[in-house]
Amino acid sequence: MVNQFKIGLMGTLLSIGINTIVDAAENKTTDAIEYRQAAFEVLAWNFGPMGAMVKGKIPFDAKTFAERAANVAFLSKMPLEGFIPGSEQGETDAKPIIWQEWDDFKAKMGQLQEKSAKLAEVAKTATKVEEVANQFGETAKVCKGCHEKYRED
Ligand code: HEC
Repeated sequence: MVNQFKIGLMGTLLSIGINTIVDAAENKTTDAIEYRQAAFEVLAWNFGPMGAMVKGKIPFDAKTFAERAANVAFLSKMPLEGFIPGSEQGETDAKPIIWQEWDDFKAKMGQLQEKSAKLAEVAKTATKVEEVANQFGETAKVCKGCHEKYRED
């Protein structure tokens, strides 16, 4: 009697345990996808106005530009963490090839960090849009290059 009860209880605990693990894994993937998409959204929010200044759509404002550039340099460190294994499945535009070419993908994220750090540096002392335009272009190229290869359009 006692043994049967124990076995029954063990079975129940085991099935609860497995379901919890499966749920946790699904949640983890969804959370990671949402995290990286949010990180990119915040990044783009800061990147956009710099682009508008470089293109002459809005007047160049050195202080705002420098703040945005510093934000982007900081934020560029964040999305990579969200590309966890298994997260090619779900509500995502990330291509599965990312995980097959992980070193290259990671290197492109590294390039974004490098170029945006340089942009933030240049922007600190810039007084004219001409002084930041080139480095802004270098940074934007990294966004584009990665999206072409690793993101669904
Ligand atoms: C190393 C690769 C890489 C770099 C560099 C990169 N991105 Fe992305 N980006 C991605 C991938 C992959 C996705 C798709 C993420 C997903 O849907 O899970 C994405 C998605 C986005 C999104 C959409 C987010 C959403 O809500 O779905 C925006 C906006 C974005 N990136 C902006 C940028 C900007 C701006 C830059 C440059 C400053 C940049 N990205 C640089 C790989 C990159």
